[in-house]
Amino acid sequence: MHLFPNIEKRYTSEQFSAREAQRQAEFIAWGPIVFQATRLMLKFGILQLLRDSDNGLTEAEVVEKIGLSRYAVKCLLEASLSIGTVLIDTQTDRYSISKTGWFLLNDPATKVNIDFNHDVNYLGLFHLEEALLEGRPVGLKHFGDWPTIYEGLSSLPRQVQDSWLNFDHFYSDSSFSEALKIVFDQYHVRSLYDVGGNTGKWALQCVGYNKDVEVTILDLPQQIEMMQRNIIGKPGADRIKGHSINLLDKGVRFPRHRGIPDAIWMSQFLDCFSAEEIVSILSRAKQTMGYDTHLFIMELFWNRQRFEPAAFCLTMTSLYFTAIANGNSKMYHSDDMKRLVREAGLEIETIYDGLGWGHSIMVCKTI
Ligand SMILES: C[S@@+](CC[C@H](N)C(=O)[O-])C[C@H]1O[C@@H](n2cnc3c(N)ncnc32)[C@H](O)[C@@H]1O
Repeated sequence: MHLFPNIEKRYTSEQFSAREAQRQAEFIAWGPIVFQATRLMLKFGILQLLRDSDNGLTEAEVVEKIGLSRYAVKCLLEASLSIGTVLIDTQTDRYSISKTGWFLLNDPATKVNIDFNHDVNYLGLFHLEEALLEGRPVGLKHFGDWPTIYEGLSSLPRQVQDSWLNFDHFYSDSSFSEALKIVFDQYHVRSLYDVGGNTGKWALQCVGYNKDVEVTILDLPQQIEMMQRNIIGKPGADRIKGHSINLLDKGVRFPRHRGIPDAIWMSQFLDCFSAEEIVSILSRAKQTMGYDTHLFIMELFWNRQRFEPAAFCLTMTSLYFTAIANGNSKMYHSDDMKRLVREAGLEIETIYDGLGWGHSIMVCKTI
């Protein structure tokens, strides 16, 4: 198995002493409580308060400033000592924020992940066992009766939808500026299919970056409607068209109404599908490609991350797909994706790594 160096170091050898390993085991056993207590330390503003204080604060001072009961503050502060997000000075009994607490407050990825896990995943993950056994997103029933989350995306409760979109966009947005340079400066692209184009964020950036390109967004009808509302009146919107399509339907072909496209763009799209579905979608993409068409697959491959916490986020995200999204997709290892690309009759010309928060772009051509 091919792993980038920092991940390999951690995943191939034991990291902990026996005592540390035992603590880690307990940390896992108490995971839901660790998560909720910490989320509330953020939500109630206690971590922020501690960060802003020069010499730390006593429990009584926190009670006074936050306005929660003494009992609530005491429970949260003592739990946070054990979790490791706050420290205490035993001479003065003053609490201060730890490095981990600081990251929770200041690391944008952590904030997005906490909201995503609370709003989208928390209740549904209770059904992970059934989801793994049955291969369907059993946890999605907390939100509605759709076969996958994508049919329900536009009608999720507002806060859930915001957390989902913030999570999705957080990762892809961070790579778009570097990706534009790759797609438009390295390749000749005047027509582009944005497959799974969602709210049209990438399409708007394409028409802003290149004055000639015509973009067709292929997505489910609900998302095409959402996209059209989102792009109205924005610069270049007249060069963005929507095409409703359900690519899970094996009989559905990619459109050809604008001739052979120069580029097919799939950003954080193939991770929404099982291995078999990916081969089916890529094979149908191939039917619409000419020999000069490039197919760009932008994905977060867990094995190609520079830093291990990113790989951690991705292998955990796979289980969101299992329990909530569709029951059968995941964040892929790049070797698995390479195999699926070849099975679909395409070849990989090159791979760009290290965009934004850790995207790679596989550039594929038809054989
Ligand atoms: C994870 S989002 C990626 C959005 C965007 N490309 C990005 O990089 O942020 C996946 C997109 O694929 C679309 N999608 C999921 N299943 C689909 C299907 N069966 N047919 C067409 N589009 C689908 C979803 O509606 C969603 O817009």
